[in-house]
Amino acid sequence: MSSRAESLPRVVADGPLDPVIEELLRGKVELLPWSLTESGSDEPVDGVYTYGHLALNGEILDRLPGVRIISNYGVGVDHINLPEAAERGIPVGNTPNILNGATADMAFALLLAAGRRLAEGDRYARSAEFTTYDPGYMLGREIHGSTMGIIGMGRIGREIAKRGRAFDMNVLYHNRRRDEEGEKLNGARYCSSDEILAESDYLVIAVPLNEETRGLIGKDELQKMKSTAILVNIARGPIVDTDALTRALQDCSIYAAGLDVTDPEPLPRDHPLLELDNVTIAPHLGSATEQTRQSMDEMSVENLLRGLRGKPLLNEVKM
Ligand code: DGY
Repeated sequence: MSSRAESLPRVVADGPLDPVIEELLRGKVELLPWSLTESGSDEPVDGVYTYGHLALNGEILDRLPGVRIISNYGVGVDHINLPEAAERGIPVGNTPNILNGATADMAFALLLAAGRRLAEGDRYARSAEFTTYDPGYMLGREIHGSTMGIIGMGRIGREIAKRGRAFDMNVLYHNRRRDEEGEKLNGARYCSSDEILAESDYLVIAVPLNEETRGLIGKDELQKMKSTAILVNIARGPIVDTDALTRALQDCSIYAAGLDVTDPEPLPRDHPLLELDNVTIAPHLGSATEQTRQSMDEMSVENLLRGLRGKPLLNEVKM
């Protein structure tokens, strides 16, 4: 019988995990089911690996004695109660930077798709109704020469700004703190939240979800936007009030939306937002490229293994 000292570290994970991750962990940890977060564990658990954004709070951690690392797959950690992890002395690792480019690309994919009515056009091109070309149908909104406002000038926001300049857009941003260094690199202009709402043709949300940003875009903010404006959310669903957005799109008080995330996620299948042609929705694909996922697999596994050995993580989330 093997003693606990010889056995592999025990890690609770919310699977099914990507096979690449399972391979990276093979022979290094014993993977345990997420159901232990409900039932608790009599045997000590050494680590938690959060793959699909399931909630992790202090009550759960109390049911899993011994946890000394939480490794999160992805940069957003809004599903993890950070103060409660810190209170218990548990470091939380995540995977920033490696996904900035892919996520900024997705912001642009949605911006282009919503502005140029691509999803709607694709549906039409496949339908029996498409019998003849008509230069007057499906006119979208110009991208080049228009104004893009970015709410949140962090690492991903900066990448989005760069893409905006390449598309010959006028780039504005709003952030808790002014980013003068970023402004020099990408020519974005800092402005107030009222200005960015009023001036943006494309308003891109790139802030993390926290108590300050929950519900940041609601009825009042949508009313301040141009009727020709397009909202793009590649951050987290609850930053935008879903009911207010649905009404704004139904009433055409804004032109369109491109959403990589929704609240709830997924939306109920009969949700009115899903019936609208002026919304393009992706199923949370921001960083979903083969190359970026491979990097995220490796970084999240490395964070986990380092935490289990008591070593500094590749990236530890700062409170
Ligand atoms: C993130 O990085 O937070 C994305 O949502 C993927 O997990």
